[in-house]
Formats: sequence, C-alpha cells, structure tokens
Amino acid sequence: MKSISLFFICLLVISCNQTKKPQTMKPKIVIAHRGASGYLPEHTLEAKAMAHEMNVDFIEQDLVLSKDDVPIVIHDIYLDDVTNVSTKFPNRKRQDNRFYVIDFTFDELKTLQVTERFNPETGEQVYKNRFPIWKGNFKLHSLQEEIELIQGLNASTQKNIGIYPEIKEPAFHAKEGKNLTKIVLKVLADYGYNTKNDNCILQCFDAKELEKIRKELKSELFLVQLMEFEDEAKKLGHFARYADGIGPWYRQILSEKIDGKFTFTSLVSDAHKLGLQVHPYTFRADALAEFSSFEEMMETLLIDANVDGAFTDFPNKVISFLEKQKTNY
Ligand code: G3P
Ligand code: CA
Repeated sequence: MKSISLFFICLLVISCNQTKKPQTMKPKIVIAHRGASGYLPEHTLEAKAMAHEMNVDFIEQDLVLSKDDVPIVIHDIYLDDVTNVSTKFPNRKRQDNRFYVIDFTFDELKTLQVTERFNPETGEQVYKNRFPIWKGNFKLHSLQEEIELIQGLNASTQKNIGIYPEIKEPAFHAKEGKNLTKIVLKVLADYGYNTKNDNCILQCFDAKELEKIRKELKSELFLVQLMEFEDEAKKLGHFARYADGIGPWYRQILSEKIDGKFTFTSLVSDAHKLGLQVHPYTFRADALAEFSSFEEMMETLLIDANVDGAFTDFPNKVISFLEKQKTNY
C-alpha cells in the first residue's frame, strides 16, 4: 500500500514538473549568447539581427541599468572592456579605475563606440580571430530597442524567436539604490512577456533574486537559475521550487575523460528528475579548452550528456549540428 502511494506521489511530481516546459519549446534549444557574438561585437543590434537570421530559438540580453534607469543590453556593469569610454570620458572612472554603466545617462551611453571585447589593461582583443577591434560603427542600446528589433523581425520574417534576458548583479544595483528587476519586469510586461508561453526565459545568477521574482513578485515567466560553482549542485532541490531550469557552466557537467570519452557528473540527470531544463554556457568554437573540436564539444554535451539547450557564440554551427543529428536519431 505504502509503495503504491509512493508511486502515485512520484507520478504527481513528474507530471507537475513536465508542465514546466511550454509545449512549443523544442527538445533542444539554441540560444544566441550575446547575439551571434562569434561574428559581430557582442550585444550589438547587428549581432542580434544576424542571430535572428540564423533561426536561433532565443536571443540573449544581459541587462544593466543606466544612471537614468534605462535597462542597457551589455554583459557587465563596466563599460571599459567593450567601448571607448576611457578616451571619451577619461575623468568619469571610479577609484577602482573602472567605468560603470550606472554612472552614465542613456544619452551619454549612446555616444560611445562599441567594439570587440578587449582587455582594458593591455588593449588586446580577447578572441583574436573575431570581428576586428575598433572597426565599424557599433552602439549600445536599450532592452526596449532590442525587443522592438526582435519582435519587428519576427513580424517581417514570420518567425517567433524568443528573448532570454539576464538580470545582472541585482545586489550591486540595490547598493546603488536601484531596482533592476522591477524595471526589467515592467518592460517585459509592456511588450507582452508575462507567462511561460510568451517566448521569454528570464535568467539570473543571484538565487535569492530569482526566488523573489517567482515567490514575491509572482512572475509566471520561465525562470532559469544560472550556476557557476560546484557546490551549487547540492541546491538543485531548492532551485526546483521556483525555477524551471538551470544554466550551469558546462564544466559542472563534465567529470573525467576515459579512453577518449567524457564521463559526466549527475547534474543533468538530477536536474531532469526534478523537472528542470538544463541550458549550459558557453559553446565557443574558438575557445575549446578540453575538447579537441567544436564537434566533440557539441556531441559530448548536447547528445551524450543530454542537455536541453546551449548558449553559444556560434549559433549557426550548433543549429547545423542539431539538424544533422535529426537525420541520424
Ligand atoms: O547567461 C548565460 C551565460 O551568458 C552566463 O555567463 O557571464 O556570459 O553572462 P555570462
Ligand atoms: Ca548572460
């Protein structure tokens, strides 16, 4: 009798969890990480348009507030590793020698030139074979401008590509007297992103903030808890109480390489048992580390480890890999 009730409880948990994923979401999704950032400077509207043309499932937006509370699409709270801020506004750095997005108005930010990521101490380009540094005419933009580009392209190309915004450093914003989450949720709602079926996945590294988004702010969006450290794997059960998925660093999934084949930690299977989708970051064809080829990275993580999506700087390569798999699987 006891085992029968346990069976029904398990069935209930499994069926509850299965409802977390919208039916329209593909078994494996491709997320354009900062846009098609392997080909154009990250988080530029040009990189987002290129990703859209590649037919990705989602396009990512990292979000930081300007001085006048405009959510800006940029990876860091700093400006000095992707813009010419240090030459344009040399006197506006803080004591730590960094230039902060939050110290500039939207109009001021719009005057900056955006370029390929570089080391602000040496001036050297981080990914050497990408778009040439300081070439072209790229600008910063707001979340609203990016949504209008994506929704506009969706209308004109009859596609339904989603957005994947990230709340960046909410504790830093709070210390500066700002509520990034509240502002972002309002913009998302204004543009029709309210529920799991609205093609928007909201992500955050800060677990307290993401839990608050679900429990206090009552958001019904698809939520992904980003992860970075090994010991966070112990918290999956807690994450499953408010999140629909996890976004781990891909190395949290790998264990060792034996006879040329990778073995895995239990992270993906544990997450799946809890009904959590797994979208690891970052698939970079030009930063392979332990993999001998990008093909090996994709095969290992997307097929062997069975993750549900990939944040990638090279969306076209992941899409064509998955398309080939469809014919074989
Ligand atoms: O948000 C997923 C991935 O982008 C996390 O890493 O540092 O590139 O935002 P990061
Ligand atoms: Ca991100």
